[in-house]
Amino acid sequence: MKHISNTLKTLGLAVTSAALITGCQPASSSQTDMKADMAPKAYFSISADGTLVRPEDYRTWVYVGTPLTPNDMNNGKAAFQEFHNVYIDPVSYDHYKKTGNWRNGTILMKELVSVGSKAAVSGNGYFMGDFIGLEATIKSAKHFPNEPGNWAYYSFTNHDTGILTGEAKPFAAESCNSCHEGSAQDDFVFTQYYPVLTSAKGFGPGTPENTARRSPTKKSHSAVEQKPEKEVDPRWAATALTPTDVSFDVPVELDPLFAYLQSGEYRKFKHQETENHPSAGPHTKLGLPVRVYYNDTIAASIKAGNKEHPKGSAIIKEMFDADNNPAGWATMVKTHDKSKKGKGWFWYEGTSPTDKMQIAAIGNGVPGCQSCHTVGFDMVRSDVSIIQ
Ligand code: HEC
Ligand code: HEC
Repeated sequence: MKHISNTLKTLGLAVTSAALITGCQPASSSQTDMKADMAPKAYFSISADGTLVRPEDYRTWVYVGTPLTPNDMNNGKAAFQEFHNVYIDPVSYDHYKKTGNWRNGTILMKELVSVGSKAAVSGNGYFMGDFIGLEATIKSAKHFPNEPGNWAYYSFTNHDTGILTGEAKPFAAESCNSCHEGSAQDDFVFTQYYPVLTSAKGFGPGTPENTARRSPTKKSHSAVEQKPEKEVDPRWAATALTPTDVSFDVPVELDPLFAYLQSGEYRKFKHQETENHPSAGPHTKLGLPVRVYYNDTIAASIKAGNKEHPKGSAIIKEMFDADNNPAGWATMVKTHDKSKKGKGWFWYEGTSPTDKMQIAAIGNGVPGCQSCHTVGFDMVRSDVSIIQ
């Protein structure tokens, strides 16, 4: 690949060769004005094996927002602790504004920026520090026919050298896609955090920022609220079968499971947190108390440092309300040897200690649960230092 990037450096990104496929469309109306010998503007270049040359000039694209999940608000262990400045290529922004959909060839860049100062003359807060990394996601049925939603994910970050790589290979689908698939609002893109995009979606001709309306009413606030309620939200529905012919320490069918949880039998597990602590996940509500119990199978696997936990691994998380009254359980049971992106796990969350029908999710392969848990160690997210 080296020679390709060198060639590109000399010739500029607009060049296409037999080995390169550009993922771009000409900037719509100007095409006819262009001289016949001029190549259309390329926002990215991908080689036949999926390698992406680091896109340039993205800070001149359309800026869509800057989410931040700071360490201070995540028990000091945020999965992504830096600012994320997100940009989209102008042609795809335009297409999204016209049609409300992501075209093939859409590219979003996410520039990582460290948290710098936490105080300014205006008050305490989070202020951007240094540029520390760069990631990208691209939708292309042509390049990624087998990726979920045809989206692929890239990183050019090198935290050791501080020098961005010149090119990057797409991540395996399970490293990035499933989180986006399970929780992003609009076809793998987290538009719920980018009002620039939600206000542009399907806006038609014209420019959303030129309309005078600010502080919109609840009704027109976001596409999420406009969407008609689906009967079952697919994020919380099972996508794989739960085996019924095996028995585990923790039952995986509702009636026996609920009876088991109510019995408190799991409190006999040797490995357990000694007290309630504030949750870092959204179970019941972020920050409410939880307490986690591990069966012997998963405790041994965590001790052994296994990449995948064996069948029969089980974890139970007690959830409490603000006054430490029981408020249900979240449970994970590994029903298969392979994790299969979460389909090999049985997921359960019930939000009442007495009413078994108050279920947030039950079954194998629940996208909403997996979305957060993919950053865990074979899906396990709690602090397991009490076991190690
Ligand atoms: C734990 C869930 C999770 C995982 C895993 C994850 N992401 Fe994201 N990603 C998010 C969230 C949430 C946002 C929006 C808020 C933010 O940027 O923090 C986002 C935003 C992005 C964006 C901006 C465009 C968009 O879709 O909103 C890019 C690019 C991106 N992620 C790349 C990646 C890459 C590359 C990986 C794999 C190395 C990855 N993500 C893994 C949750 C995740
Ligand atoms: C927004 C992110 C997020 C979502 C969605 C999520 N979890 Fe979690 N989960 C966490 C975090 C973070 C922890 C670590 C412990 C804590 O702080 O609560 C955790 C811990 C757990 C635990 C304790 C074992 C472990 O992995 O550490 C169980 C069991 C669990 N979650 C089940 C579920 C189930 C079932 C669902 C779907 C109904 C779900 N989770 C959805 C973030 C999430």
